[in-house]
Amino acid sequence: MDANILAVLEEYHALIREEQNKPRETPPGGRDGGQDRRMRAVGPQTGRLLNIIARSLDAPNILELGTSFGYSGIWLAEAARATGGRLITMELHGYKSAHAQEMAAKAGLADHIDFKVGDAVQMISELSVGLDLVLVDLWKDLYVPCLEAFYPKLNPGAIIIADNMIRPGNEDVQAYGRAIRAKAGITSILLPVGSGLEISRFEP
Ligand SMILES: C[S@@+](CC[C@H](N)C(=O)[O-])C[C@H]1O[C@@H](n2cnc3c(N)ncnc32)[C@H](O)[C@@H]1O
Repeated sequence: MDANILAVLEEYHALIREEQNKPRETPPGGRDGGQDRRMRAVGPQTGRLLNIIARSLDAPNILELGTSFGYSGIWLAEAARATGGRLITMELHGYKSAHAQEMAAKAGLADHIDFKVGDAVQMISELSVGLDLVLVDLWKDLYVPCLEAFYPKLNPGAIIIADNMIRPGNEDVQAYGRAIRAKAGITSILLPVGSGLEISRFEP
C-alpha cells in the first residue's frame, strides 16, 4: 500500500480512537439532522478484510452502502485500483460524502470512485452495472430493503458483506441474516470480526 494511502488511513485511525473514547451523544437534530460528525467506521480489522476480499476479485464492480466520512471506502478503492475495478459508494448526506471525496483525493484514489449522494435504496435501483462485491453498512433498518434492491444485480460469484451483524436483540440485522440466507444461490457465514460480518456468496 502506498504512502499516501497509509497516511490517510492513519489520519482516520486517530479519529476512530478519539471517537471510541467519547461518550455517544445524539447530535442536534438527531443522526440525520446535518450535524452528525460520528464516523461509525468499520475499523481497521474489517477494513483490512474488505481489502483482502476485494483484491481477490478480478476488476470488481464494488458497491458500498453507507460512505459516511470515507474510511471503509479507502480500503475498497485501494483494492479497486489494484485490480482494475471500480467503487460506487452511496451516502445520504452531502457533507459526509464531500469529506470522503477530499480524503480519497488526498489518498490518490478519487479517480477510482463514483460518489453518489441520496437514498441508497432508490439509487441502487438506478444502477446499470452488475455487482461483484457489496458492503452493507448504512442504517440497519435499510439492510433488508437494500438487499431486495441489489440482489437482482449481483453477478455470479458476487460477495456481499454486511457489517454490525453481532448486535444481540437487534431485529433489523437478524431479519437481514434470515433474508439473505433465504435467497436462492446464497451461501453465508457470520464472522466475529469487528462488529460482526455476515459474508455471503452468490452462485446462481
Ligand atoms: C455506519 S455508517 C458507514 C460507515 C462507513 N462504511 C465506514 O466504515 O467508514 C452509516 C452511514 O449510512 C448513511 N445512510 C443512512 N441512511 C442512508 C440511505 N438511505 N442512503 C445512503 N446512506 C445512508 C448514514 O448517513 C451514515 O453515514
